[in-house]
Amino acid sequence: MVSRREMICGASAVATIGIAGAFAGRYGFAAPAQHLASPAVPRLPASTIKLDFNIAERPTALPFLGGKTLPLLSFGDQEFPLIVRCKLGDRIVARVTNGLKNMADQVSIHWHGLRIPNGSDGVPFITQKPIEAGSTSQYDFTPPDTGTYFFHTHCNSVEHFGKGLVGVLIVEGDETTPYDADIVLAMKDWRISGEGNFLPFTTNEGAAKGGTFGTVRSVNGISRPTYDVGAGENIRLRILNVDPTRISEVGIEGAEAEVIAIDGNACPPFPLKSWRMGPAMRIDLGIKAPPAGMSAQLVDYYAPQPVVLSEFKSIPSSRAGVRNIGPLHAPHVASADLSGAERLTFAFSATATGQAISELPDTGIPLGALCLSQKSFWAINKRTWANMADMKSGPPLAELKLGRSYIFELINQTSRAHPVHIHGHTFAWLKSNLRTLPPHYGDTVLLLPKERIEVAFKADNPGNWMFHCHLLEHQETGMMGYIRVS
Ligand code: C2O
Ligand code: CU
Repeated sequence: MVSRREMICGASAVATIGIAGAFAGRYGFAAPAQHLASPAVPRLPASTIKLDFNIAERPTALPFLGGKTLPLLSFGDQEFPLIVRCKLGDRIVARVTNGLKNMADQVSIHWHGLRIPNGSDGVPFITQKPIEAGSTSQYDFTPPDTGTYFFHTHCNSVEHFGKGLVGVLIVEGDETTPYDADIVLAMKDWRISGEGNFLPFTTNEGAAKGGTFGTVRSVNGISRPTYDVGAGENIRLRILNVDPTRISEVGIEGAEAEVIAIDGNACPPFPLKSWRMGPAMRIDLGIKAPPAGMSAQLVDYYAPQPVVLSEFKSIPSSRAGVRNIGPLHAPHVASADLSGAERLTFAFSATATGQAISELPDTGIPLGALCLSQKSFWAINKRTWANMADMKSGPPLAELKLGRSYIFELINQTSRAHPVHIHGHTFAWLKSNLRTLPPHYGDTVLLLPKERIEVAFKADNPGNWMFHCHLLEHQETGMMGYIRVS
């Protein structure tokens, strides 16, 4: 296997390979017939993408508020969400200024899903000093993988996400045939009262159960946006769940859709029926736009009644269906060596307090009555992430040897779902006791109630890496730890 480093340095194109084939041999999957092209070669010369973020509160009118503004947090003067595009091989230099007025509001930027060096990972106290109000810090890295990613702060994230402080990062270069259009669709709810003000972003009930949900659903900050697409054209949809809480089960009505990438990583394409996306998860779809005058919809089937999230209206096009789309380039993620892999088990559970609350009926006792002194509702291997600001996080959940392969067994001992995320690495999905999914890579896997999942990866990136639930209220009430790779 060619290492990631060699790939980045520009290994020349090799014959078409299939991760399906690699998976079939190593993981015992039946190999789908489709193949991926060899991993993409970074473009030369590369560019440097300079980003200048000034994180601040900016009164912003979201389209569904009829002109009324909300105090959103943003990276600069753009519409929600900020979308950054670069090409594989490009270097990103991001200057980040903390322009927040509250002196206690420290920030750092985590580049979710990117396998970059630990020093750029953006976790306060673990990988860097937080950026204090009024000060500036810089990130400088070259994304090693193509795909659909996002970035966000890593402390007080429930409030920051709630106020819209999330950006999308697209690393282009995985297409062997360009799609006719490329549409980013960031799903995020807003917690807004009838009067159009923010509601509290967290509640004890929500934090100890399935999370505190938004009241208005949106895609790209618009409720049910419509996009014009060329009839018969090949459209790439990049769908991101950047909600702090909501799990969606997305599907497409009115057009054929295939899944082409998961969490940014190209996968052997398979037809989409529906795909369950917890917070932080992404999928890329290829769809064929319907005939002119017709429309297709992005739908969430998770609710009892399917919810239309956005629409694609076909207008006449001269390019219609002329070309077939070639395969995407395979990911650069190193394969895990399963025969020599060490197996580690992680149990996701509730603490005694969390357990007590989650068993209360939804309309039950006011939680003040429980005298919650510290909000620790959730745990990994019986440990909670207590008091992050003081760094009383204790030793890592596990110590991994650099270069070794690992199988993580994730066990859900609760009745809630947990999107489990690892920093700096990418999991290969192996199996679940409850369902069968096509072979794929992901940095966030949705662990369903009572589910056991096995994932594998090669610990090839040294450092202290966060490992946590991405339902942000769970993360902030204990379901977080870190692993050390050295
Ligand atoms: Cu989006 Cu620690 O993660
Ligand atoms: Cu969780």
